[in-house]
Amino acid sequence: MPFAHITGWGMYVPEPVLTNDDISKLVETSDEWIRERTGIRERHIARETDFPSTMGVEAAMKALKIANLAPTELDLIICTSSSPEYIFPATACIIQDQIGATKAGAFDLQAACTGFVYALNMGAQAIRSGSMKNVLVVGTEVLSRFVNWKDRNTCILFGDGAGAFVLQASDQPGGVMSAVMHSDGSGADSLSVPAGGAHCPATEATIREGKHFIQMDGKEVFRFATRVMGKAVTEALEKINLTTGDAQWIVPHQANYRIIETAARHLKMPLDKFVINVERYGNTSTASIPIATIEAVNKAQIKPKDKVVFVAFGGGLTWGAMVVEWTGPLPAKKHVRVEPYRLLARLRSFIRRALRFIEGFLSRKEL
Ligand code: COA
Repeated sequence: MPFAHITGWGMYVPEPVLTNDDISKLVETSDEWIRERTGIRERHIARETDFPSTMGVEAAMKALKIANLAPTELDLIICTSSSPEYIFPATACIIQDQIGATKAGAFDLQAACTGFVYALNMGAQAIRSGSMKNVLVVGTEVLSRFVNWKDRNTCILFGDGAGAFVLQASDQPGGVMSAVMHSDGSGADSLSVPAGGAHCPATEATIREGKHFIQMDGKEVFRFATRVMGKAVTEALEKINLTTGDAQWIVPHQANYRIIETAARHLKMPLDKFVINVERYGNTSTASIPIATIEAVNKAQIKPKDKVVFVAFGGGLTWGAMVVEWTGPLPAKKHVRVEPYRLLARLRSFIRRALRFIEGFLSRKEL
């Protein structure tokens, strides 16, 4: 059975930064309150020209470059987002088109902030089964467009950004070692965007009532998160007969510093084993785990052979954890220049759209 290694990684955050002081000009709050309750100081906010797809593409291209893999070699793209481009088509398909992954299947996976752990596990299972060799997993968020900037309970928490991993098959042991995925839909109401779907389609009233924005029972979500995080970490480690002592790093979903602190206490682990960057990004939902991991890799904190545990929780309710032995790029047979594929992809997409238009025009004339 092949092993599924993380061989490439990339992140993208839009440049504009919104500080707590900036938010205190929008709602009644303060830098001190936000830092004390959440650990967040600032977050990045998408410009008008940034979309989940465009940010996902930037992260994906960097990940492919590190993996030394051409987009045309991808078998599958899984995009996970709590703020997707559309209800459909899938954001993954837009990314597929923009990077020129001509032979890849592409779909979106919805598991709110747990999405990246779920998607990584699905990608790894596709590789473990032998049916796929190269899988791209992207977590990408423009949550700022789903936040009610008049609601101080939620607008302080979220930020925008994207992260991507390339998973590749190899006979060498390592990579994704175990994972657990859980859900409890009885808690669906505690964190949701209630309108815009089939249950509550968009109307003037839903817009007036702010039902297209994130609604959250903060206390309930806090209780849930602290209850499940530690358990999920232990469960994923126990599946492969490891304990917390065997893990060099825990990369938790970056929602709130106090939640991470409580999980560390439950696990009886020192906080310095936890990768934490919530201070500078806020909660970027599906992008938070890859962004935190990549920063730790760039700082040479996470190194090859380290056992790393990803753990996440979020709307659904969903939660899950994954144990990975960090490896890095597979030995290269050739150097792949990834950037030209992007230009070719644009050209290809333009030509296909033009041909589709001409075909449509001609068939209308025939009728
Ligand atoms: N600034 C100042 N005061 C605020 C505030 C803000 N941004 N938001 C809420 N308050 C007020 C409340 O109105 C309340 O006032 P009251 O006592 O007069 O009614 C008081 O602060 C306490 O509110 P409470 O909701 O009890 O605060 P809290 O300690 O639970 O912290 C959260 C609120 C949202 C920070 C916290 O519940 C949390 O982080 N929950 C998890 C959320 C999360 O991670 N969601 C994403 C999961 S993927």
